[in-house]
Amino acid sequence: MKIIDLDDANKPLYFLCLEDWSPEIRESGNRKSTWYDRMKNSGLRVKLAADDDGNIGGMIQYLPIEHTHVSGKGLFFIYCIWVHGYKEGRGDFQKKGLGSSLLKAAEEDARSSGAAGMAAWGLSLPFWMKASWFRKHGYRKADRDGMAVLLWKPFAENASPPEWIKRKKKPARVPGRVTVTSFVNGWCPAQNLAYERARRASEEFGEKVVFREVDTLDRNNLEEWGICDALYIDDAQVRTGPPPSYESIRKKIEKKVKKLK
Ligand SMILES: CC(C)(COP(=O)(O)OP(=O)(O)OC[C@H]1O[C@@H](n2cnc3c(N)ncnc32)[C@H](O)[C@@H]1OP(=O)(O)O)[C@@H](O)C(=O)NCCC(=O)NCCS
Repeated sequence: MKIIDLDDANKPLYFLCLEDWSPEIRESGNRKSTWYDRMKNSGLRVKLAADDDGNIGGMIQYLPIEHTHVSGKGLFFIYCIWVHGYKEGRGDFQKKGLGSSLLKAAEEDARSSGAAGMAAWGLSLPFWMKASWFRKHGYRKADRDGMAVLLWKPFAENASPPEWIKRKKKPARVPGRVTVTSFVNGWCPAQNLAYERARRASEEFGEKVVFREVDTLDRNNLEEWGICDALYIDDAQVRTGPPPSYESIRKKIEKKVKKLK
């Protein structure tokens, strides 16, 4: 196994979260590459893990926390670590040590860049990105927002723990119409996919639905709302992890449209 820095040849694969085999992920558009182009100038680092045959099976992306949707100082923040676990496409690379090696390499890189520690997030539930996986690697809880746990591993004694930036307000409804508001940052193709589906589903209803995009790659928007990625239909939040199907979003909008006077 080998850990390598992202190079030009592997960029298309990275932009699709290693799921180049999946037609679904391609629905997410090109926001991830736009995000990458912007954030690489703000210290974004990406590493990939290849098995002994040179097949890429894992990735980690992390950047100085000051440029993320998490509040903190002097730390690096892991947006995500992903070891391909589906049987389809590239196949299952999990439980072979790729994840631990990626995390170790990222921590060493952050330390040698002078970071005071590493922060990461995970879910308190035993699926998707599990907070417990980071705990096993020496991380401890710094903050919590529902199921989303923010964890960290300080490298220096004077390091301060990170905090979630909390939601500051909810989108307001446009009177007489169904209001669909999609907050989208670009870092996560799954969230970009939810945005694309919501936009397309809203278009089906013409004048009855107003679709609003809030681009949270714009720091002012992120700070104004305290939201990074989220979908609202009127003032109700729709869960987007994992991204709902196009049909399920369309039905939710339709239900509200039917209630319009
Ligand atoms: C969490 C995650 C990164 C871990 O990656 P991984 O490569 O499977 O992790 P490792 O192989 O280093 O460790 C996993 C387990 O395999 C075991 N293991 C490591 N090398 C092994 C080997 N050669 N043979 C057998 N088991 C091994 C480890 O001991 C560890 O055991 P544990 O589960 O009891 O802790 C991976 O499971 C993942 O990507 N999960 C989904 C995360 C996700 O949704 N990310 C997107 C968020 S936006």
